[in-house]
Amino acid sequence: MLLPEINKERLPRHIAIIMDGNGRWAKQRGKIRVFGHEQGARSVREITENCAELGIKHLTLYAFSTENWKRPKLEVQTLMKLLISSLRKEINTLQDNNIRLSAIGNLDALPAKVKNELLDVIERTGANNQMTLTLALSYGSREEIINMAKAVSAKVKNNIISSDNIDEYVINQHLYTRDLPDVDLLIRTSGEQRISNFLLWQIAYAELYFTDVLWPDFSKTDLYQAIADYQSRERRFGKTSEQLT
Ligand code: IPE
Ligand code: IPE
Ligand code: MG
Repeated sequence: MLLPEINKERLPRHIAIIMDGNGRWAKQRGKIRVFGHEQGARSVREITENCAELGIKHLTLYAFSTENWKRPKLEVQTLMKLLISSLRKEINTLQDNNIRLSAIGNLDALPAKVKNELLDVIERTGANNQMTLTLALSYGSREEIINMAKAVSAKVKNNIISSDNIDEYVINQHLYTRDLPDVDLLIRTSGEQRISNFLLWQIAYAELYFTDVLWPDFSKTDLYQAIADYQSRERRFGKTSEQLT
């Protein structure tokens, strides 16, 4: 199939994806939900490679939300196991493609095995610089904002910063995403049109792209489609169209 045409000069610097629809993908095939998550892991590898190859600098994937802990115990356990095996398996993919791994979220809430594996891969890929792949794990944007508020107010209380000096930069520096630029393009698969507690502050001016494709089916063509759509839009950031030219 022909890939949609993309202008390499105008790539989104930061793509974030809400990878949704694994459960429904499995259900459509009469399989258990976990089967969908396994297929979803394959899409993660493919899309990560495609983004790096294309020249995307930052890819952030929503893999497990703070709310996902409420799922059946068996599903949560399997997802955690899948994370460990994927990290072990994909370390070579990351090295081969010069990709640095990073993570955002409450990593302390993860089982020790997952956290250790994660930190190991983060350390081993630390010098890679083609692209940063950030996994959002046990991530919730409201929790992130609460933690930021606590950290900033503690600094105000201890006279490290003055409340008069709190600005966007200060807020950014106290979020999990302190090292990342704002999101340019947010993609959600599976037809749901909601944010589900993902990067609320960071998507203030992101272009939103929703597709009915379920995550395990999300292909290189779908990725290119999303980027081509992004490139067809005019990002005005509050200005008028005339001001941009
Ligand atoms: C996304 O797929 C993966 C996670 C949230 C971990 P879902 O598991 O939410 O799949 P659906 O939405 O039930 O189809
Ligand atoms: C959002 O998907 C979280 C991830 C993709 C990790 P959900 O499937 O959990 O979202 P809701 O519950 O349908 O909003
Ligand atoms: Mg879902």
